[in-house]
Amino acid sequence: MTPNDLAAALPALQRSDFPAAFRWGTSTSSYQIEGATREGGRVESIWDRFCATPGAIRDGSSGANACHHYHRWPQDLDLAQELGTNAYRFSIAWPRIWTAAGTPNPQGLDFYERLVDGMLVRGLEPWATLYHWDLPQALQEQGGWAARDTVHAYTAYVDAVTRRLGDRVKHWITHNEPWCTAMHGHWDGMHAPGIRDFGMALQVCHYVLLSHGLAVPLIRANAPGAQAGIALSLHPVRAASMSEDDVAAGHRHDGLRNRWFLDALAGRGYPADVLAALGASAPRIEPGDLATIAVPIDFMGLNYYFPETIAHAPGRSPLQTVVVTAPDVERTAFGWEVEPAGLTELLLRLHREYQVPAIYVTENGSCYDDEVIDGAVHDTARTRYLVRHLAALRDALGLGTPVQGYFAWSLLDNFEWAEGYTRRFGLTHVDFATQQRLLKRSGQWYRDFLRAGR
Ligand code: FCB
Repeated sequence: MTPNDLAAALPALQRSDFPAAFRWGTSTSSYQIEGATREGGRVESIWDRFCATPGAIRDGSSGANACHHYHRWPQDLDLAQELGTNAYRFSIAWPRIWTAAGTPNPQGLDFYERLVDGMLVRGLEPWATLYHWDLPQALQEQGGWAARDTVHAYTAYVDAVTRRLGDRVKHWITHNEPWCTAMHGHWDGMHAPGIRDFGMALQVCHYVLLSHGLAVPLIRANAPGAQAGIALSLHPVRAASMSEDDVAAGHRHDGLRNRWFLDALAGRGYPADVLAALGASAPRIEPGDLATIAVPIDFMGLNYYFPETIAHAPGRSPLQTVVVTAPDVERTAFGWEVEPAGLTELLLRLHREYQVPAIYVTENGSCYDDEVIDGAVHDTARTRYLVRHLAALRDALGLGTPVQGYFAWSLLDNFEWAEGYTRRFGLTHVDFATQQRLLKRSGQWYRDFLRAGR
């Protein structure tokens, strides 16, 4: 497809279709890009340990080097600035801050202070995620997120970070995708710490949400005027058929995927139908926990990738559901279904069913098998994905949803968790052997879109 054909096939879109104050950004996370896992006093994380487990990572790799962002961050922030973005979402590595003595590691705090200052001089508003899956291994050895004490270790960490950076970081995300922390980490075992125990996964879910609830007031106290929220991975759920069983299975799946988090955060407690289906696997909840979790937030972060089609499957999972492969749908190289309308649907749902005050799309992006040919990456499919999802966002705005920003996943190709370096999501291509960065055509499209409208 030539650039002209591509333009003709896509919805016409201009930056001026969106409010002037809209946040336009890219999103990254510490373990996926930083590398330098043994520098600056950083301690071992559960991901360092997990990656060393044979068979855990598709290509046997780890984040030990990743994008060398720990050293190359000035160049990477230059890239974000050249794109014309006005915000940048990154995460803070708890293992860079944690020490056995309980006092925060000054080298870790210094690093993030330099990074944040680097954003500010480039006109990039810092959006800091406090937990994007890299728990210090030492805390895992004390029970990790399945132990209530970890909640307090987390708030001590949040306190240290927000005291140091709260004068300049005004947007804080307590957790990235608690569903993944809990379920991939402790149910299917695909992510660190690689545990397979459904009951434990639900307890983890509860403690992660509890730690969110305790962190929000701390953030507000230490960072005057700051906004605090959480980033959830939400999925539109479809039933595989109109049969009563499949429809009920879809509802149960939506219950744990989406409503479990949304209802609890909105002060409605955990959904009764899911609790009933969980039976003995339901988490232990202490008096006051649900009120803590329901602390009002300033914004909801939405990470949107794909919808899911669900069938009833007795015995297949504790909730007796299974994700089925919908036939004849467009998919990315990862196999994730491409459905821009799902983004509009989720934004409307957050607005209508949960009345969230503001929504930011904190992640959205696609993975394709990119190749550098004659010094360029012609990633037409990714450009199409981006444009169509931005059009879906514009539709949601037109329907009155309070969406105020969009962060593309990701600025750079990076370490994609259990998939290692086999999945490229970046707007910028990274040659992991030479660490050379090359803006892909999709990145050029984003840049031209953002710059033309300024
Ligand atoms: C999300 C994660 C992010 C990245 C994308 C592709 O679930 O938050 O770190 O791996 O998927």
